[in-house]
Amino acid sequence: MATWFETVAEAQRRARKRLPPSVYSALVAGSEKGLTVADNTSAFAELGFAPHVAGLSGKRDMATTVMGQAISLPVLISPTGVQAVHPDGEVAVARAAAARGTAIGLSSFASKPIEEVALANPATFFQMYWTGGRDKLLARMERARRAGAVGLIITTDWSFSNGRDWGSPAIPERMDLKAMLRFAPEGIRRPRWLLEFAKTGRVPDLTAPNLADGGAPPTFFGAYGEWMQTPLPTWEDIAWLREQWGGPFMLKGVMRVDDAKRALDAGVTAISVSNHGGNNLDGTPAPIRALPAIADAVGDQVEIVLDGGIRRGSDVVKAVALGARAVMIGRAYLWGLAAGGQTGVENVLDILRGGIDSALLGLGLSSIQELTADDLVIPAGFRRDLGL
Ligand SMILES: Cc1cc2nc3c(=O)[nH]c(=O)nc-3n(C[C@H](O)[C@H](O)[C@H](O)COP(=O)(O)O)c2cc1C
Repeated sequence: MATWFETVAEAQRRARKRLPPSVYSALVAGSEKGLTVADNTSAFAELGFAPHVAGLSGKRDMATTVMGQAISLPVLISPTGVQAVHPDGEVAVARAAAARGTAIGLSSFASKPIEEVALANPATFFQMYWTGGRDKLLARMERARRAGAVGLIITTDWSFSNGRDWGSPAIPERMDLKAMLRFAPEGIRRPRWLLEFAKTGRVPDLTAPNLADGGAPPTFFGAYGEWMQTPLPTWEDIAWLREQWGGPFMLKGVMRVDDAKRALDAGVTAISVSNHGGNNLDGTPAPIRALPAIADAVGDQVEIVLDGGIRRGSDVVKAVALGARAVMIGRAYLWGLAAGGQTGVENVLDILRGGIDSALLGLGLSSIQELTADDLVIPAGFRRDLGL
């Protein structure tokens, strides 16, 4: 039974101890030199607060809505296509999100089918990359709709720059006997992780069931190959997909004001200001630096969420103060999942809720709706106004 942890940093420590090194390093990720992944968290540390001491509010409200879903705190689960963290995978994450009153984005590279995830959490958005061409995209989108997905997220901010100075983990094409034997030394060093999978009677199979197209699910590498060979999407493609979906639609990965305006023209419901958790073009600044200019330009016309570097409730408050409606989290919940399955993810959401509440209390506010940039200490030169 997993025991309660106090901070996301502690969840990360437990994940590192528990997971095989190659799985853990796939979660930490970050491309090339890791400049962006480092800035994503250190930018939050540059922002400060000036708390009050009396006249504080006894009640703090943090409920909001994103893409038509009422959520009890301004934190959603960002889609991550990562396998082998826990046998219950995205279903455990979906249950935890539902238990804590929030929504989940399910990656099309996820290890669990959309049908199971949407059943576990009615507030499920399906995330797609631009892969396979229009017909395949439509078929996969319709499958998600039939399964009950209530929103679509399209992620197009990927530049395939995944070389890392500290080395990339060797991921086998398929978890067959040969791969198991190769990974055995890692499994022996991480018996609890192995035991979790052993209890289910199966090994992580590293396939992508949401890309099966009615046949056998492709392997992770098969799916990746298809994606790399697909012609890149234009703004017309984005507008076309949005029209085909017809419901709440998010473009994830926007970092520039000009792109945010184009997304608006394409008719999106929401954008996520994001640099893919530092896994894309290294040298891209932290999303929290790019957020203010984008919020100034389109904040009254489109829902803005932010993802990248959220580790504490105070980070969420900083993002909302600078114009985000809510944030999405990636690594924080993956570490929670590794540390304690569904309970671990609930624990992470509880930590963030507690931190948001504590920051609102200190700032003397009764709701996240009251947050503005004036609640923060912002050093000169913090902002990056991109694509103005
Ligand atoms: C291991 C890993 C896998 C990811 N896979 C996907 C994915 O399949 N689709 C997607 O849109 N974003 C993916 N992302 C990006 C996340 O959705 C999110 O943008 C990022 O993790 C936010 O930064 P954070 O981890 O600092 O919270 C992935 C991120 C990580 C760390």
